[in-house]
Amino acid sequence: MSDTFADALLAWYDRHGRRDLPWQHPRTPYRVWLSEIMLQQTQVRTVIPYFERFVAALPDLAALAAAGEDRVLALWSGLGYYSRARNLHRTAQLCIEHHGGELPRDVDALAALPGIGRSTAAAILAQALGARHAILDGNVKRVLARWHGVSGWPGSTATQRILWTHADEHTPATRVADYTQAIMDLGATVCTRSRPRCADCPVADGCVARRDHLTAVLPQPKPP
Ligand code: ADE
Repeated sequence: MSDTFADALLAWYDRHGRRDLPWQHPRTPYRVWLSEIMLQQTQVRTVIPYFERFVAALPDLAALAAAGEDRVLALWSGLGYYSRARNLHRTAQLCIEHHGGELPRDVDALAALPGIGRSTAAAILAQALGARHAILDGNVKRVLARWHGVSGWPGSTATQRILWTHADEHTPATRVADYTQAIMDLGATVCTRSRPRCADCPVADGCVARRDHLTAVLPQPKPP
């Protein structure tokens, strides 16, 4: 089924998307996982040198699991949010102990591991394996809340349910890896929290928030 939102986003990605990121070559589950954890709270340009140093020192899951925590934390040093590094280490050890030495390919099993969660699990499987899973991180919530004109705080259960449904509807059956990267990049670079660059947006046609002048009020903040 054709989806104008996904088609327009993929066409934009073909013109503007980055295909030179270090975790894309080669795009293995280990490297995509590591990049997604680093990118949870840190921008792409900051992550790149940390990612390269980390995979040079600890190139696979077994090496990470076997490393001492002090070594893992030293490689993380400067990135901040150190619980991410501790969870990464713990997850590698759990994969060795319980998942045959690999990251699980089942989205629920992957989401249950420390530091991962539903959207990150989906992002890993979509990018590394091309498996069709919808993602819904903070950037994607903002894009979809605006495009569909969804009111309500995206942290609430009811609003999240609506946004997950929209996220799933738009996720294409093919080119899932590119689509996933494209919608995250759109949220990070065009559909920004303040002063979104609607003139550069490939899905501005059809965006409810833009049509109704609501980009400044959607997504809605947490109620007091
Ligand atoms: N934030 C989380 N994952 C990301 C990705 N793959 N690209 C850009 N920003 C991200």
